[in-house]
Amino acid sequence: MYFCTKVLIYQSMNKNSISILLVVFATFIISFTGCKNSSSVNSEQNHSTEVSNPAYENIMTRTSVRSYTDKLISADTVEMLLRAGMAAPTARNSQPWHFVAITDRAKLDELAETNRHGRMLKEAPLAIAVCGNMDKALEGDGKDYWIQDCSAATENILLAVNALGLGAVWTGVHPIAERVESVSKVLNLPETIIPLCVIVIGYPNESPQPKNKWLPENVSYNIYE
Ligand SMILES: Cc1cc2nc3c(=O)[nH]c(=O)nc-3n(C[C@H](O)[C@H](O)[C@H](O)COP(=O)(O)O)c2cc1C
Repeated sequence: MYFCTKVLIYQSMNKNSISILLVVFATFIISFTGCKNSSSVNSEQNHSTEVSNPAYENIMTRTSVRSYTDKLISADTVEMLLRAGMAAPTARNSQPWHFVAITDRAKLDELAETNRHGRMLKEAPLAIAVCGNMDKALEGDGKDYWIQDCSAATENILLAVNALGLGAVWTGVHPIAERVESVSKVLNLPETIIPLCVIVIGYPNESPQPKNKWLPENVSYNIYE
């Protein structure tokens, strides 16, 4: 009798304990999942620059590189860079551009003389002149959109350069009339093709740190203030 009573008490206690354990376990799972969700939202809001994402990382690590090794860049890689340029958005999809890829040593050296801030061309194996094609530019008020379109293509190429382990620097041409004239002469450009910039590209021979340009004071939300 004593034995039977003890077994019954033990069994009922066991059932209760299992129920309690199940409730505790379920509560733990629910609260853990909830915490995890809210903490990941918070961390994205508070530390958006720490998000690990290869595309974002590529944007944040791009920096101007002005010294290169003498390693040549393959034709396939040059085409990848040009494809990246042409993937850029353009006003009304007008694609008002022309790209001149320069690998000829003599031409690169001549180009170096067109910009006193472009001496790095002397040791670069590649340059891409990003030009606006006035025959494809919009008419009327939107004509000058070619500048934004070609700038978007330029940034795309700079990002592709960084992603492929190369280094580059944007050297400005348009709107400096003297540079437009001298670059056009070196590259034999017709009047309808205006050089916006020359991107100087090579395998990096220096590792400059990307600049931290984040300034909250440059941002307003909803209205300017
Ligand atoms: C329109 C434009 C023209 C530039 N021209 C030159 C140039 O002639 N020579 C040069 O060394 N860098 C030039 N740069 C590169 C800037 O100096 C560089 O982007 C800037 O200092 C910020 O550094 P980062 O590219 O490392 O972020 C030019 C950049 C832009 C957008």
